[in-house]
Amino acid sequence: MGERILITGGGGFIGCHLTRRLLRAGHQVRVLDSMIEQVHGERSRPELLEKEAEFVRGDVRDGEAVRRALQNVDSVVHLAAEVGVGQSMYAVERYVSVNDLGTAVLFQQLIERPVRRVVVASSMSIYGEGLYQDEDGGLHEDVRRMPRRGPDAPWDPLDAQGRPLRPVPTPETKRPALASVYAITKHAQECLTLTVAPAYGMEGVALRLWNAYGPGQALSNPYTGVLAIFASRLHHGQPPMIFEDGLQRRDFVHVEDVARAFHLALERPEAAGQVFNVASGHDRTVAEVAQALAVAMGRPGLEPEIAGKTRSGDIRHNIADIGKIQRELDFTVRRDFVADLAELAEWVAQQQAEDKVQQARSELERRGLVA
Ligand code: UD1
Repeated sequence: MGERILITGGGGFIGCHLTRRLLRAGHQVRVLDSMIEQVHGERSRPELLEKEAEFVRGDVRDGEAVRRALQNVDSVVHLAAEVGVGQSMYAVERYVSVNDLGTAVLFQQLIERPVRRVVVASSMSIYGEGLYQDEDGGLHEDVRRMPRRGPDAPWDPLDAQGRPLRPVPTPETKRPALASVYAITKHAQECLTLTVAPAYGMEGVALRLWNAYGPGQALSNPYTGVLAIFASRLHHGQPPMIFEDGLQRRDFVHVEDVARAFHLALERPEAAGQVFNVASGHDRTVAEVAQALAVAMGRPGLEPEIAGKTRSGDIRHNIADIGKIQRELDFTVRRDFVADLAELAEWVAQQQAEDKVQQARSELERRGLVA
């Protein structure tokens, strides 16, 4: 039997893919989205949102709008959030307000009309640095980035003896270490969901996402994920700009895999009360993806610029252990990175987008947040 599902922030990149998937599975979808200009420009309805989805424009911090959006709803997916790690380090009030007050308002309303399940989009950024291993095989959970002393200092974290540490897949059991305002707000969203939902007979689930990419990512938003930023630069014939030395590692997960993870998290009984990592299980360096994307977009000559500077709030490496979601929810990764880049390149070629990346970079530099 299909459910009626409310997706907050459902007009965004992940929300539109998830809406399509849930509609095909026989659910009804209502989307509440405030349509912020940084993501949606001047549009009044999300460009990629399926026609069959009901769209309500409203802010998740507006209790009355949330109350109306919750009418006759069986389950909620909470995606409404500000998502830029770099931007969160200066737009502190905005990030804490949208992400945490927004989640608080949602639950305040849910207390009056509980639903079966609430699935929240958390982030791998709550781990801070991922799990590391030293040369003797010892695991390190509490690695923190230290300011670099001089231009020749290593980028990678070191152990107490000054030996390099190697990133290894990070499981859900790693202690959180909050390194940016964004991470603090995502951690609070997760805690609110897993604490308030069960107190009112609802099932809370948190998905900790790694770096989602794919067609539909907001290309004109200079604070969006790195692949969309690089795509926008290359599209305009500009080289990607890479922070640090480009060898920082992440796990890039296709948005359709992310949508499948949300679908499982909504439907599977075993998911109740749990947190799950969502990623592809393959890690790559930022420089590697910049080069692969340049090739996919037919711009192999556009060599990335390596800044040799760190963006404040950034972590060095974080790669995913996806064993838990594979075992417990039968999650499988169906995408192929190279084919996905070709798909992304094809989509980007049809888009009209503004390149505001240099502007955003100057903004961070002006505030001393790139050093
Ligand atoms: C991203 C998401 C965050 C999500 C998290 C989960 C965005 C804006 N942020 O954070 O919402 O919760 O993944 O993994 O989508 N970089 C460059 N050049 C650029 C931009 C970024 O070199 O122009 C580098 C960054 O310094 C960083 C890496 O690329 O080392 C990834 O940055 P970004 O895409 O912003 O992602 P996260 O910070 O990992």
